[in-house]
Amino acid sequence: MCKCSFVVVRAACLALLASTGFTKPQEYTVDDPTDGDVYRVQSADVSLIFDKSEIVVNPDDQLNLECGVRGKSRYCIWESENGQILQVQDVYSNVYDGVSKPLNSEGNECGIVINPANIEHHGMWTCKVFVVGKSLVGSKNVIVTIKPTSPILEVDNQRSLDVTNEDETPVKCSVAAARPAVIIRWYLGDRDVTVSAETEETPTDKGGIYKSVSTLRRTFQPTENGQLLMCSVTHKTLYSPENTSIPLNVVFKPVEKPISTFYQISPGSDYEVKLNFSANPKPINKEWRYGDSFEEMEGSLGIPDTDGHYTTDIEDLGNGLYTAKLLVSGFTEADANKRYLLVVENQYGETQYKVNLSIHDAPQDDDSETSNHDKIPPTELSVSEGIVFDDETESNTLSGGAVAGIVIVLLIVIAAVGAAGYARYRQMFCFASRAESKAHIQDPERNETDNGTANDAIKGSTDQVNGKTDSTVANGNGNLEQTQVDEITNEKKNTDV
Ligand SMILES: *[C@@H]1O[C@H](CO)[C@@H](O)[C@H](O)[C@H]1NC(C)=O
Repeated sequence: MCKCSFVVVRAACLALLASTGFTKPQEYTVDDPTDGDVYRVQSADVSLIFDKSEIVVNPDDQLNLECGVRGKSRYCIWESENGQILQVQDVYSNVYDGVSKPLNSEGNECGIVINPANIEHHGMWTCKVFVVGKSLVGSKNVIVTIKPTSPILEVDNQRSLDVTNEDETPVKCSVAAARPAVIIRWYLGDRDVTVSAETEETPTDKGGIYKSVSTLRRTFQPTENGQLLMCSVTHKTLYSPENTSIPLNVVFKPVEKPISTFYQISPGSDYEVKLNFSANPKPINKEWRYGDSFEEMEGSLGIPDTDGHYTTDIEDLGNGLYTAKLLVSGFTEADANKRYLLVVENQYGETQYKVNLSIHDAPQDDDSETSNHDKIPPTELSVSEGIVFDDETESNTLSGGAVAGIVIVLLIVIAAVGAAGYARYRQMFCFASRAESKAHIQDPERNETDNGTANDAIKGSTDQVNGKTDSTVANGNGNLEQTQVDEITNEKKNTDV
């Protein structure tokens, strides 16, 4: 293509080669594209103004084909992919039906307006401008839309989508044909869950018509039972999305819950325990059991039923949610000492819900620095909220690793305190005052180390660690120090009680 021989000219040629890469359909020298897809094709002092980006037009709408010339041109034509040729001069003389001159011809000297557009106008259109000795050419793709077929959810049962909460369920939504391809989104209730979907577009012909199939892969949750799953299709031809939806039926074993403890029950009163649980499909067996421990139950009552003292009932709140009720008539301390189990079974399994009834207040966390639990109402507290009330839960015993970690930390603190105390005892350092009191943290280990030689060192160091006033520490006054140690001993006694 290049016949240049000099190095400099060759470089220019290479640049030219590179730039022609942008503009394949052009036949002549091309400037770099200036703004986006608008570029100019030049021949001597004549240039073409052309935007090659695709046009999407609905049938019966107006199709603007724009093409401009700078400089002197002889005439221009538009040529369609399927062989139709429109001479612009003729268009401007109203020779063709449904094709006319644009309102504004500036920078659009060869532009034409097709109105109404129809399916035959779909395809590549080329503007050809003839100048002295040559022609300038620009091409663009015109997509005449085809309305999508209705979206279809590919499910076995048209009334509900049956899924378990354990397996990922692929759900397909398809649109058999549309031009251009549709956009498919998924909604669960009012939540957009399209991120879990993938859409595949397959051309159905060579005319730009696509079949689209979107596959949603998701594990549905018990809480999503009863929600509407919707496939939503958008397209240029649609004023509003075309939707199809199906209600979810998520099946699951009764959902497990941490132990529930009900507090502040007044002896002598009638007390009704209300416990929410969820299960789908509905329980086939349900009963309340009671006994001295969760392992040894002595009695049980179906639901609904009564034995005079206990009365059981259940309320169906819908969507797999239930409230189980246990009314205790004339609540006694003996009732508070019992353990209660709500046992619920459906086709997917059985779950036992543990319940304690207490005449006491809900325990308060006595560590004042982390008293954020105080706001929890005392009526029903559960382990999941961070407070552990029952000895029988697994979660309130520390793991071996945690115990080892605490022991190591304690040993390090003891060693540090001992060393500091010893150092001070030996007058090795001049201690400055410290503001922070660490008394709470260090109370416990004093118990463990209250013996032998370490004892003195630790006692000697307490004014540093627990120092309440600057002067105390600075003076190193023996009496004051002694007072503080007494204080600490008292504290220790308190915690032991
Ligand atoms: C049980 O669920 C219902 C509905 O969500 C709610 O109004 C009620 O407060 C819940 N009851 C308990 C005891 O958590």
